[in-house]
Amino acid sequence: MATNENHLKLMFLLMLSCMWIFFAAARPRDTLKSGDTLNSSSHLVSAKGAFTLGFFHSGSTNNIYLGIWFTNDPKKIVWVGNRNKPVVNTAAVLTLEANGNFEILPQGGDAIPLYPHQATNYTYTLFATLLDSGNFVLQELDSNGTTQRVLWQSFDEPTDTLLPGMKLGQFSLEWDPKGRQLIIRRQGVEFWTSGVLKGDKFEFISDESKRMYNFIVVSNEDGEHLVYNDINQGGQSAWFLSFEGKLLSFDGSYIAETENCNGHSTDGGCKRWLPSCRSRDDMFDKRSGYFIQGPEPSFLHNNTKLTMDDCRVTCWNHCGCDAYTFLYDNQTGCKFWVKKGEFFQDLSGIIPALYVLIPKSSQNGMFLQLINS
Ligand SMILES: *[C@@H]1O[C@H](CO)[C@@H](O)[C@H](O)[C@H]1NC(C)=O
Ligand SMILES: *[C@@H]1O[C@H](CO)[C@@H](O)[C@H](O)[C@H]1NC(C)=O
Ligand SMILES: *[C@@H]1O[C@H](CO)[C@@H](O)[C@H](O)[C@H]1NC(C)=O
Ligand SMILES: *[C@@H]1O[C@H](CO)[C@@H](O)[C@H](O)[C@H]1NC(C)=O
Ligand SMILES: *[C@@H]1O[C@H](CO)[C@@H](O)[C@H](O)[C@H]1NC(C)=O
Repeated sequence: MATNENHLKLMFLLMLSCMWIFFAAARPRDTLKSGDTLNSSSHLVSAKGAFTLGFFHSGSTNNIYLGIWFTNDPKKIVWVGNRNKPVVNTAAVLTLEANGNFEILPQGGDAIPLYPHQATNYTYTLFATLLDSGNFVLQELDSNGTTQRVLWQSFDEPTDTLLPGMKLGQFSLEWDPKGRQLIIRRQGVEFWTSGVLKGDKFEFISDESKRMYNFIVVSNEDGEHLVYNDINQGGQSAWFLSFEGKLLSFDGSYIAETENCNGHSTDGGCKRWLPSCRSRDDMFDKRSGYFIQGPEPSFLHNNTKLTMDDCRVTCWNHCGCDAYTFLYDNQTGCKFWVKKGEFFQDLSGIIPALYVLIPKSSQNGMFLQLINS
């Protein structure tokens, strides 16, 4: 009798677990949490199903990439995690470790980090979630599921990305109803503008798109909107904003060709966006060493909400800032070095590394870097 009951219980439990497996299989996960791995035959799917993340082969090659694509059109890849570092001829997994290591691990090869950082003991649990906007976000969540800190997001990573909703990555596109113009911004800063809408055309869109589209402004209770009509096809078609800030139609023709928007030119709707002291190819490089005027930073930002990305942007926009790094061990807050003279690189690696500005003119791997003093 008791045995029968136990059998029944066991059957019931088995049925439950089968149902659980069935449901788990039917509804793919959208999240990796610390300790999880995504292998090359499994996927993450955003909550409403719009986007899928996984590994894919490029064409007929044996190169494997981690990507995000439209679930209903896998050819439309919106983001690639290892664009310049394909995994060749071997399998790979995506792993998220509790210490923040978030990387692609090729079998028998070197890890390709998505979130470059130093291993840290995090206070909260790490989750990497694929959102319905197409953004893949690595964040610290407390036990209530409240975001404590966003550590990394795919929207911030430059890649050849198309933009449903017109906002992704470093670039955004908006309609400015007051100025009656389209604005492309790069990290919030004006990068290109279309010129004022005159009649149903914009001055700085390509000649081809002047022939292809007309534009009208419509008002409703939500405010003013810009509507564009595809003259030939009728109705509306989709536009994309590429990771370089070019505006394209689905068939690949340019609406705004922003190639010449180098930060200094103002031709064709381009805006000045570079601080006068920076050149487009200047970059920060992680280097161990010290400035001749001493190791002390020139100033600090002690706000623990600041991430390394914030530090980089602040240093970039502050003429004379030659280096930055984080302030606290958990990589929050910032330290900055301003006009501290020559930087001497220490190859022994004993001195903690800083992110040092390397002007384009001296980007040829020298041991001793001369930074403008
Ligand atoms: C990949 O992961 C899924 C789900 O975690 C698992 O069912 C499957 O067996 C794994 N495939 C390989 C080849 O490891
Ligand atoms: C993390 O915590 C462990 C155990 O408390 C400690 O041994 C380790 O040094 C810590 N690591 C870092 C990077 O703080
Ligand atoms: C989580 O929620 C509970 C109940 O609402 C609250 O008491 C607790 O402080 C919250 N914890 C955190 C880490 O926010
Ligand atoms: C942060 O900086 C402000 C202003 O410099 C200072 O008043 C404050 O004490 C600092 N807070 C901490 C925690 O160091
Ligand atoms: C990071 O470290 C600082 C200083 O120790 C602390 O005030 C802050 O709460 C920490 N932030 C997180 C998210 O752990």
